[in-house]
Amino acid sequence: MSRVGRVLRALDLKTCIFLFVAIPLGILGIYLHGQKITYFLRPLWESPPKPFHQIPHYYHENVPMENLCRLHGWGVRESPRRVFDAVLFNNEVDMLTIRWKELYPYVTEYILLESNSTFTGLPKPLFFSINRDQFKFVESRLTYGVIGGRFKKGENPFIEEAYQRVALDQLLRIAGIEDDDLLIMSDVDEIPSAHTINLLRWCDDIPQVLHLQLRNYLYSFEFFLDNESWRGSVHRYQTGKTRYAHYRQSDVLLSDAGWHCSFCFRHISDFIFKMKAYSHNDRVRFTHFLNPNRIQDVICKGDDLFDMLPEEYTFKEIIGKLGPIPHSYSAVYLPEFLLNNAEKYKFLLPGNCRRESG
Ligand SMILES: *[C@@H]1O[C@H](CO)[C@@H](O)[C@H](O)[C@H]1NC(C)=O
Ligand SMILES: *[C@@H]1O[C@H](CO)[C@@H](O)[C@H](O)[C@H]1NC(C)=O
Repeated sequence: MSRVGRVLRALDLKTCIFLFVAIPLGILGIYLHGQKITYFLRPLWESPPKPFHQIPHYYHENVPMENLCRLHGWGVRESPRRVFDAVLFNNEVDMLTIRWKELYPYVTEYILLESNSTFTGLPKPLFFSINRDQFKFVESRLTYGVIGGRFKKGENPFIEEAYQRVALDQLLRIAGIEDDDLLIMSDVDEIPSAHTINLLRWCDDIPQVLHLQLRNYLYSFEFFLDNESWRGSVHRYQTGKTRYAHYRQSDVLLSDAGWHCSFCFRHISDFIFKMKAYSHNDRVRFTHFLNPNRIQDVICKGDDLFDMLPEEYTFKEIIGKLGPIPHSYSAVYLPEFLLNNAEKYKFLLPGNCRRESG
């Protein structure tokens, strides 16, 4: 009888099961769901950021600007500020069209920068350049820039992102931005509503830096998630001081100021591209996540592309958001160009979750 055998016999059955079944299963579970476990425990190791001071937002199409400004405690100006809308572009062609059409009446100059590198350092086609003929309507007001990627392997994606934002600051100066011009800083899919920008360009004494609370949607306007989007912001430009950024830059938040539609793509291939390209690409833990059939199913169910738990700061919120996002059947308060071209943008409206292949 070997020594091992004797040791094994000495252990009782329960211990054996624990050693050879429970522990390996536990390790496998942590391997497969480690990210979920850490997200679930997030309320224990991270406390929520300081809440914003939320400004009530008043609007009705029949209320004159003077009254609207006064309702916010601001005066009305003799003439509106100039408005600069600057974005870093990846591959959101449809969202860019809807954004630029929404803001068209009020934007003085559109600024768009694109790189031949994703934030994660993968080579990327110049999608704007390829589709430029769809954007003839802004040509006379467009400052377009291209920046070469640095293609550093294994670098934190946020470094490439910061590098591209610095280039965007230079492009803004080339576009002729001046002190007190209004500058919109937001991702392409974070769309301020037109009346919000009109209000901010007409009223004096608005905050120097104002974050915008946007309605959060996923995949389309069928899946309304929450009102927690705040990264978009509007600045009264200050030379030498204003820097293009996408993090929190002040404590004031204007309520109900537009829409944020994440992963609102027309083609399944756009989803795959974005999943690989964006700064959280570590979330693609298994290659089957990129399977087109799986992606289509996930979209139609309102499930999570990365099979993750909601990123929240309290257990109550995490549990409240577990499972798929409920369908919304309201298409009442949405960007104008979307509703006026509903056939072309059907995939963004309730009841049309099937995407074109290709
Ligand atoms: C990216 O663009 C830069 C500058 O235009 C160019 O030198 C470089 O070859 C390009 N790289 C790729 C992979 O396209
Ligand atoms: C989001 O904001 C809108 C407008 O203020 C409101 O009608 C809606 O109930 C809010 N939804 C949630 C989930 O907070």
